[in-house]
Amino acid sequence: MEILVAGGAGYIGSHTVAELLEMGHKVITFDSLQKGHKEAVLGGEFIEGNLLNQEDIEKVFKKNTIDAVIHFAADSLVGESMEKPDKYFRNNDIGGMNLLSAMIKYNTKKIIFSSTAATYGEPEKVPIEENNATIPTNPYGESKLIFEKILKWHDTAYGIKYASLRYFNAAGAHKSGKIGEDHNPESHLIPIVLQSALGKRDCVSIFGDDYPTEDGTCVRDYIHVTDLAMAHILALKKLESNGESAIYNLGNGKGFSVKQIIDVARKVTGKDIKTKIVGRRAGDPAVLIASSDKIKKQLNWNPQYADIAKIIESAWVWHKNHPDGYKKRPTQNYA
Ligand code: UFG
Repeated sequence: MEILVAGGAGYIGSHTVAELLEMGHKVITFDSLQKGHKEAVLGGEFIEGNLLNQEDIEKVFKKNTIDAVIHFAADSLVGESMEKPDKYFRNNDIGGMNLLSAMIKYNTKKIIFSSTAATYGEPEKVPIEENNATIPTNPYGESKLIFEKILKWHDTAYGIKYASLRYFNAAGAHKSGKIGEDHNPESHLIPIVLQSALGKRDCVSIFGDDYPTEDGTCVRDYIHVTDLAMAHILALKKLESNGESAIYNLGNGKGFSVKQIIDVARKVTGKDIKTKIVGRRAGDPAVLIASSDKIKKQLNWNPQYADIAKIIESAWVWHKNHPDGYKKRPTQNYA
């Protein structure tokens, strides 16, 4: 099967490409490299292009017979989206529409979409189930929710079947140690905490300790990136066997506060990690915890890294060996 992975040079995309290759699929990675890293794509064909350029994406469909698409290409920072909603709606919705137009034109009928827990907003109850209210509190979540609706109508009108995977907080790195998380600038909690452990930052700023949670800091549900990658492959298999379109949550069903994550990281790394409390970050809900019962039941998804220490440990291996991400290999040894 020939699979197009849009945004396959990004963090979750590259881990999915790695699993697809291991399973023997033919993979074409399409990425603008605005945030992705070519070195993160471990094999298959690589095409540089931007979904905002209709021609870029149409060329790929014209030249190949694409059986299915896995779509990661998007902007995904909650904080940035509050300041630049135009960027989010343009890249995530208009870019996505261009991809769908190419799929219609070349008759590709299956797509796995990288959605997010941010579609729910401040949840009415936790753990969050797929049929909970979706009232995003930031443009990022809104842009993803809009695209889910676009997908629904493309199923109705054109028979394009989709699985939309609403990830909670992706974390960790590939078992090979070759690929991991590298954003520039880094804004995600676990990489920032581990960069602090490496001495690359003086301290971790905790964004608010006045949330209605046990220790006052935000609670999130962290899920290993390889477990996420496997879910995409299971969802694709389901669509291949004439499965109906569906939306699935992906998390571990356990919440950890920002302070708890820092404590686990201190234990895993054996390093002192300094913190300071700063103001809340706009757009952050207090608690996000998934119920992933639906995907477990319907697709037999079975996460291999349910333990938060194991997730942070795998990220630590990556960060120790790539302190500057994909840019530079280390010259020093980290004990
Ligand atoms: N945080 C800090 N200090 C930091 C960085 C983060 O306190 O330096 C806090 C955040 O405020 C938040 C938590 O740590 O409470 C996790 O923050 P991340 O930036 O790591 O992740 P988010 O929860 O903001 O976002 C992630 C993905 C989104 C997705 C969301 C769904 O990046 O794509 O999870 O839960 F929508």
